[in-house]
Amino acid sequence: MPTEPRITTLPTQDSLVKQAVYDDADGVGSDHSAPMGFVREQDASSSERTNTPMGVAAQQSSLSIHDERMLRWVLSAYTVTATFWLLFATAVGVLIAYKFGAPDFAPGEWLTFGRLRPIHTNATFYGWASLALVGLAYYVAARSSRTRLYSPRLAWIGLVLFNGAAVAGTIALALGHNNGNLEYREWPGPIRLIFLGALLITAWNLIGTVARRSTHDIYLSNWYTVGAVLWTCIIAVVATLPWYQYGLGQVSVSGFYMHNAVGMWFTPLALGIFYYALPKLLNRPIYSYALGVFAFWTNLVFYPIIGAHHFLFSPLPWWLQTTAIVFSVAMLVPVWGGSANFLLTMRGRMRDMTHSYPLMFIFVGVIGYLVGSTQGTFEAFRSLQEVWHMTNFTVGHSHLTMYGFVTFAIWGGLYVLLPLGTGKEPGPLGLALHFWMAVVGSFIYVISLSVGGTLQGLDWKHGLPFIQSVADMQSYWVWRGVGGSLMFLSHVVFGWNVWRMTYGVGAKAAPNDSNPAAGAGA
Ligand code: HEM
Ligand code: HEM
Repeated sequence: MPTEPRITTLPTQDSLVKQAVYDDADGVGSDHSAPMGFVREQDASSSERTNTPMGVAAQQSSLSIHDERMLRWVLSAYTVTATFWLLFATAVGVLIAYKFGAPDFAPGEWLTFGRLRPIHTNATFYGWASLALVGLAYYVAARSSRTRLYSPRLAWIGLVLFNGAAVAGTIALALGHNNGNLEYREWPGPIRLIFLGALLITAWNLIGTVARRSTHDIYLSNWYTVGAVLWTCIIAVVATLPWYQYGLGQVSVSGFYMHNAVGMWFTPLALGIFYYALPKLLNRPIYSYALGVFAFWTNLVFYPIIGAHHFLFSPLPWWLQTTAIVFSVAMLVPVWGGSANFLLTMRGRMRDMTHSYPLMFIFVGVIGYLVGSTQGTFEAFRSLQEVWHMTNFTVGHSHLTMYGFVTFAIWGGLYVLLPLGTGKEPGPLGLALHFWMAVVGSFIYVISLSVGGTLQGLDWKHGLPFIQSVADMQSYWVWRGVGGSLMFLSHVVFGWNVWRMTYGVGAKAAPNDSNPAAGAGA
């Protein structure tokens, strides 16, 4: 049972970048031969050791106090607003989960399933996950490039635009203004343009920050995060232009947008956080920089073409569907390559998890990525789509990936980096409650829908009356509600932890990047 977060035993920012570059030169990983002056992993296993002045002194930041304050402000503000959206969106999620068992509960038109469902999905995507990941990406870009943020003002404008779009989009959906059957693009056009504006500003600011780096190489995390913003600008533009969005053109653009929103936006952003937070936490370089670059390029080659797997057996050309299936299988290359890189970085250090909730969050995130994406590959086969398409199995997959992977990655990243930025830690009880309720809740959620969804699909395949599949799903929907309630409670605790790590009073001062002496016992 973890007792204390290990975030007080981190290596230096300086060493992280150097280790990454060293790992690159080494090509096969460098864990056993860290060069002179770096905190070795043997040392890292002892908290006394790394809390010595030698350990923390090198955390001296190259940024001015003003730049430090700005960076801290950006990460905190993005995190706090993202947390608000997580709480709001998942309160809605719990409500709609229970509506499956009690459809007449809360019957007002504002509270109908058709309005609340897109409110939930858009608020989790664009309020929660996007804001949290962008805040983290800014922090990682500045720290790993050892430079200041290109423009705190642009970060501020982006924050207002992201939040403004989420507020306006939520109100529009609640009033019944829905862009139609275009999943994850339900906000009316002008509101999506506001989001696009925020995206362009973020891309400019992130690239500007990385471009003025004082390191020679671009650290791996920034490949992923900068790639994510660039690709998503293209995807969002393609999904916004109206000319080809009718008939089958609209269907294929829907598949393209839907899957790239998860594959070219959330996935690389979350992977970028892993690549930064894991070496920091474990005090050793990533297993292989080269493997990380390989996974980056294969992700880019294979992901954009798999969207049509959402529309198998539809009137889309058969060859397009088959291409999507073939590339869904090819996705195993970056997924297994990336996951192996993270797991090999952790090898021999699994016991450290008993001391580190941040590490446990990241570990769950990596497993969520590996299992959820591999499941996705199987889901893309025609033989299995025959059973699972349109069933609750897919909803289980969505939450295994967007929650078990992306959301856990965000939490792991925040629990590592926020205390480093602000010098404030959450308490051990808050960490424990958050972790266990989220893990147990999401486990119940995903398992119940995976089993129930399979039965549902088999009912349909066997030609049973539709209402039979509804009756068969009932207990699984109740279990989903139970799991969802636990998940929601964990978010309340997370909200409290975020408050303590930002504007409230932290459990104790952590050694931070601007104030290395804090928490070092100095
Ligand atoms: C890389 C390997 C992956 C493959 C091959 C894959 C495959 C699939 C397939 C075939 C479906 C459609 C199911 C259906 O309509 O019947 C699907 C749905 C979905 N996937 Fe994945 N998936 C992968 C990874 C991910 C990841 C990493 C995420 C999240 C970050 C994700 C999020 C989703 C979501 C949200 C849906 C539901 C889309 C909808 O609303 O219809 N997937 N996936
Ligand atoms: C307390 C936690 C949560 C609960 C109770 C919950 C509940 C729900 C429910 C009831 C649906 C509608 C399913 C249907 O149409 O049959 C749904 C859909 C969805 N939720 Fe959640 N959710 C939660 C957290 C999240 C989070 C944190 C994310 C993303 C970061 C997320 C992403 C999605 C997505 C992508 C869908 C569409 C699924 C699909 O069409 O396959 N949810 N959720």
